[in-house]
Amino acid sequence: MKGIVLAGGLGTRMHPLTKVTNKHLLPLYREPMIYYPIRTLVNAGIDEILIVTGGNNAGDFLKLLGNGKEFGLKHLNYTYQEGEGGIAAALDLAAYFADGDKIAVVLGDNIIEKNIRKAVEAFKRQERGAKILLKEVSDPQRFGVPAFEGDRIVRIDEKPKQPASNYAVIGIYMYDATVFDVIKTLKPSNRGELEITDVNNHYIREGTITWDVLDGWWSDAGTFDSLMYAGNMVAKTGANKLE
Ligand code: G1P
Repeated sequence: MKGIVLAGGLGTRMHPLTKVTNKHLLPLYREPMIYYPIRTLVNAGIDEILIVTGGNNAGDFLKLLGNGKEFGLKHLNYTYQEGEGGIAAALDLAAYFADGDKIAVVLGDNIIEKNIRKAVEAFKRQERGAKILLKEVSDPQRFGVPAFEGDRIVRIDEKPKQPASNYAVIGIYMYDATVFDVIKTLKPSNRGELEITDVNNHYIREGTITWDVLDGWWSDAGTFDSLMYAGNMVAKTGANKLE
């Protein structure tokens, strides 16, 4: 299985912090934000990793990460996203890299405490489709939110005003190679983006999605408050260290 870290976008929600740099290079306690999602993949046993970046100062990723020696990697791959088109549009740039393999995708601003190795191993054995990870949260309206019938997810609502559950779909997704065909069928949402939630809803309709609840704490770090929260959690309890 191959890994992809999505670290593009213009980070306009976080101006002026992101006026001269990329959101994923901002400090999260003692390390640049992107260190955490890279470790999420490495700790799951994935060593073929692509960083999708873009916007200002994309070259800084190469300066910072090189070939990933700090993470025990021999090589890192990079690609460049022009402008902003949403998570699914960024993922589309990884098609040549995936080259028919299954992939694990991590949003560059998603920070976890523990590891996802069990879920990755389970998805390797899954015949086809997708796997998503959920976490119970107090503010589901900020995220993609699953609606359940019993144990089955029947749909995911993106940032619903009235959430159907208290779970967030976190920014770690696993797909088989059909994902790149699914992306081609998407239409831009109200916020003008190709939504990863629409990709996941496709696999729900197809009946080929599985889900797990993530172990340990999770936070995004893409708003001022969540960046501070995630930094404080790392300082207090530590986050995913290299295993
Ligand atoms: C994105 C997804 C959302 C998901 C979240 C996790 O939101 O669209 O479904 O719950 O990441 O961090 P965004 O960061 O684009 O607002």
